[in-house]
Amino acid sequence: MTDRIVDLKGVNRVIPALDLTKPERYWALMRELRGLVKIVKVSWVTLLTIGPEGLRKLILDNSDVYFLMDAKLADVNFINGLIAGRLREIGIRGVIMHGFVGSVNVPRVEDLDLILLASMTSGGELYDANFDYVIKIVKDVDAAGVVIGGNKPNLIARARAMLGSNYVILSPGIGAQGVKPGCAIAHGADFEIVGRAIYESSNPREAFIRIEDEARRADINRCK
Ligand code: XMP
Repeated sequence: MTDRIVDLKGVNRVIPALDLTKPERYWALMRELRGLVKIVKVSWVTLLTIGPEGLRKLILDNSDVYFLMDAKLADVNFINGLIAGRLREIGIRGVIMHGFVGSVNVPRVEDLDLILLASMTSGGELYDANFDYVIKIVKDVDAAGVVIGGNKPNLIARARAMLGSNYVILSPGIGAQGVKPGCAIAHGADFEIVGRAIYESSNPREAFIRIEDEARRADINRCK
């Protein structure tokens, strides 16, 4: 499979977020989603629940899936590079880090996508006051893309206009936080990140299929 998230545009519209606090649920959920999902997002919750060796095994057991680590890194370049490098060794393909740290602190790591957080679904006022500046950093460091809250359609559209199509836009906030599936995509996002609406469902496979289908039928008129 491809090593780059930009090449997975359109393959899936939904990226399940795996913020599970019971180790066995990671393998159970990945079994449920098998064959449907090409990208999943893991997080500090994952790392603290199954540990680095558990995460390495989860990735090996699902070798056809691109694992994105929501590390929200915000240290100096050297340390960000060490952490991102260790994550790459474990098998992670992409890492999310904070954009506010500035271009000087975005490391270059071979074969690893870096995605910068540019706007949050809640709080993060400093981000929105400096939105264009963070998007400029994305271009300056040639990051793979950005995370922008799904409840900020105008910022998603603005980022798309500024970035063109060679970068990915990922939007959380879909489902549990109230944004309708497809509405971030209708405004220019490539992927919608969905956590609880999938993993808390009594049938996560059906939930994924339904949300992915709605996301594929993105229609701006349903999003007013
Ligand atoms: P839920 O359960 O709300 O999970 O679908 C959302 C996932 O996205 C991650 N994430 C964010 N969530 N605002 C959010 O609400 C953000 O700005 C944001 N950035 C990332 C979150 O950590 C969870 O995994």
